[in-house]
Amino acid sequence: MYTNAAEGRVVEQEQPMASFSEIAVVSQKPLSFFGSRPLSIFKASFLNLLHNSRRKPCFSISFTVHYESLLSRPLSGSQFTTMLNINTAVPDAREYYPLNEPPIGTRLAGEQPELFKPLEIRGVTFKNRIFVSPMCQYSSSDGHATDWHLVHIGASAVQTGNTFFLIFPCSNKQGFATRGAGAICMEATAVVPEGRISPEDAGLWKDSQMEPLKRIVEFCHAHGTKIGIQLSHAGRKASVYAPWIKDKAGHGSSWIATEDENGWPDQVYAPSAIPWSDRYPNPKEMTEQDMQYVEDAFVAAVKRCKQIGFDWLEFHAAHGYLAHEFLSPLSNTRTDQYGGSLENRTRFPNRVLQRMREEWPDKPLTVRISSSDWAEGPEKAADGSWAQWGIEQSILWVGQLLQLGVVDLVDCSSGGNWFHQKIGPLIDGKIAPGYQVPFAEAMKKAYPSLIVGAIGAISDPVVAESYLKDGKCDVISMAREFIRNPHWVLMAARTLGCTVKAANQYERGWR
Ligand SMILES: Cc1cc2nc3c(=O)[nH]c(=O)nc-3n(C[C@H](O)[C@H](O)[C@H](O)COP(=O)(O)O)c2cc1C
Repeated sequence: MYTNAAEGRVVEQEQPMASFSEIAVVSQKPLSFFGSRPLSIFKASFLNLLHNSRRKPCFSISFTVHYESLLSRPLSGSQFTTMLNINTAVPDAREYYPLNEPPIGTRLAGEQPELFKPLEIRGVTFKNRIFVSPMCQYSSSDGHATDWHLVHIGASAVQTGNTFFLIFPCSNKQGFATRGAGAICMEATAVVPEGRISPEDAGLWKDSQMEPLKRIVEFCHAHGTKIGIQLSHAGRKASVYAPWIKDKAGHGSSWIATEDENGWPDQVYAPSAIPWSDRYPNPKEMTEQDMQYVEDAFVAAVKRCKQIGFDWLEFHAAHGYLAHEFLSPLSNTRTDQYGGSLENRTRFPNRVLQRMREEWPDKPLTVRISSSDWAEGPEKAADGSWAQWGIEQSILWVGQLLQLGVVDLVDCSSGGNWFHQKIGPLIDGKIAPGYQVPFAEAMKKAYPSLIVGAIGAISDPVVAESYLKDGKCDVISMAREFIRNPHWVLMAARTLGCTVKAANQYERGWR
């Protein structure tokens, strides 16, 4: 027999863990059945926490019960009332994890900041408005996520492996799922191998890549955190080194990952044959057949996401990768039905999004946009033609997406498509905090009922709260601040005058 800790009932075991021949007498009885008897009468090896990671969750209690004493002495009413103090397990998890009730990052008491108001999109409830932005780790093995990703996304406990750090976690340790973020978006994940930025990028183009992601998703779910994934194709920015290898190679040299370096420089595709820079591969202009192949790959990846159990999907249309390359007149100089007018430049991204929505009708589909190319001069030239991609076209494009019903949230990022971009405003030579928030604000103004995310150099909880309060956005996404401080959610709650649920294991650090 085993105990289903979630329901507090003793139920039949599928694979017996101990030899109980006549224990059926307690089958289906509440656990409180045992409660009022002194534990000694059971000669108990009680609360022997078992976790068997490979089997169906068989847990949390094993009994060595001298049950004759139960049978010979009738139980009085009071003997059914006292509950045992059991370290309840997350139901149906693949391992034993203590259940957090309410989920980590849920507001408990005190002020009610906007940041800690839940948000529901297409039936998926995010427990707060703080989202972890996708962050490439350049650490995948043939596109497969590894334990690095589990630790990065999941739990610093795995990383520290040290009781002291479990109780007083160091601020430089990772693990967003255990630190209360409302949602986590997994890094740009290529739908075809040639769509990776570096050879070590994440991918979802084959079935074997599903299992390591499933493990991460299940870990997040077991810790009450919603998790999405950013599906991507790097376009002309593919087949280059990971950032730290670029740094080693030096900025004056080529960053192209050659075939000897596990790259695919001759298989790099873009809307037009314009390289991102002289350090990057020369892309091939995509044919209709190439586009169909990529579109079908997005759909196949969405199907895999469904099986994996992601809560939402993000379409990467930012940072100068394939979709953004189609959108911007700086990278798309085609003369066919995919280039020229705004309607033509949005055709391919729209096609992909429509197919994604068909495969993903019930859960949130979000789009990350680059709201500006940050190239010199205005978005629209004096003759009325579009000179670069900017917020005006972004708003028009999102209008198309809303009409098509293919977007539930737009995350307003920027840049990445023009090598000589001049991002601003700057303060003391550094990009100003919240520098992209005006884009989110403009998007929100254009479509008040659209859910809009702000991202970029946001780290002060009071300022983040003000963006939400002032109606500039609905969600705050953050990347680098979470690398610096994975506990940001709990610290933000403190700053804003409320308490939120910390992970059971970490509560002592937050008293
Ligand atoms: C290490 C790292 C990896 C990133 N990878 C991605 C990515 O996979 N997809 C994406 O859209 N943005 C990526 N970004 C950009 C961030 O998501 C974010 O938009 C940017 O860092 C600005 O936000 P921040 O100031 O909060 O860091 C990455 C940023 C960092 C620092």
